[in-house]
Amino acid sequence: MGEFDRFYSGIYGGRWSGLKAALLEPARKIERLCFGGFSRYVLDAASIHAAEALGVRPGERVLDACAAPGGKTLVLLEALDGNGELVANELSSPRRFRLKQVIEDHVPPSLLGLVSVTAFDANRFGLKKEGYFDRVLLDAPCSSEAHLLSEDPEQRSWKESRTRQLAMRQYSLLCSALLTVKRGGVVLYSTCSISRLENDGVIARVLRRKEGLVRLDQEGQVPEGWERTEHGLQAFPDKIPGVGPIYFSRLVRI
Ligand SMILES: C[S@@+](CC[C@H](N)C(=O)[O-])C[C@H]1O[C@@H](n2cnc3c(N)ncnc32)[C@H](O)[C@@H]1O
Repeated sequence: MGEFDRFYSGIYGGRWSGLKAALLEPARKIERLCFGGFSRYVLDAASIHAAEALGVRPGERVLDACAAPGGKTLVLLEALDGNGELVANELSSPRRFRLKQVIEDHVPPSLLGLVSVTAFDANRFGLKKEGYFDRVLLDAPCSSEAHLLSEDPEQRSWKESRTRQLAMRQYSLLCSALLTVKRGGVVLYSTCSISRLENDGVIARVLRRKEGLVRLDQEGQVPEGWERTEHGLQAFPDKIPGVGPIYFSRLVRI
């Protein structure tokens, strides 16, 4: 058994072989009608749920900190219902190009004025725009094991240091996101990883190091088939075939 299987069977025990097989199955995408039927966009049902869980309301200032290719951006913009401001940020220039295309192709012309695309390192938003946004979606770069396995099911060269390093990057991005929301503002942290280090582990570190500055918001129902983790909710494809994996956790700046 290689390091990859050892690491994940250490987390999931007897569940790992079935979960690994489910990660290798193609994701079941659904077609979403956006903007009152103006446009159709295809994405995973769990991704839609995560973006909706940010709870965007009309009139708010919203940041999508790591936005490309932009499926969740559309869900957030739709929730503004024609009133507010959405900044869709993406560091990678080819991926930003794709994001702009998705926005141009799917957003009605009358709503384009609400959304701007920026190219910052999301680590810098906290200092650039401190306390500016009402809500931030941080859909963080992550291990994305389904993608890794589709490239090489054996993952012979995988090292545990990879997920540890990603968890450090995610922690830093989350600290910046928490600084850029106003007091009482909400940050939704999400990943498509199944590594606990990148999910509850990142949230646990923030709650520990920023005690008194941030609190967890675990209100709301657990959607059918999802699992409650220590600090968030997670959808696994071995439980809901073709859906996820997606993890998210909601944090409020105190
Ligand atoms: C999980 S993907 C986002 C998916 C997107 N939210 C969606 O639903 O279509 C993470 C994105 O973060 C971008 N990214 C990575 N590091 C970044 C950083 N420091 N600042 C901004 N974007 C970053 C990656 O290029 C990638 O496009």
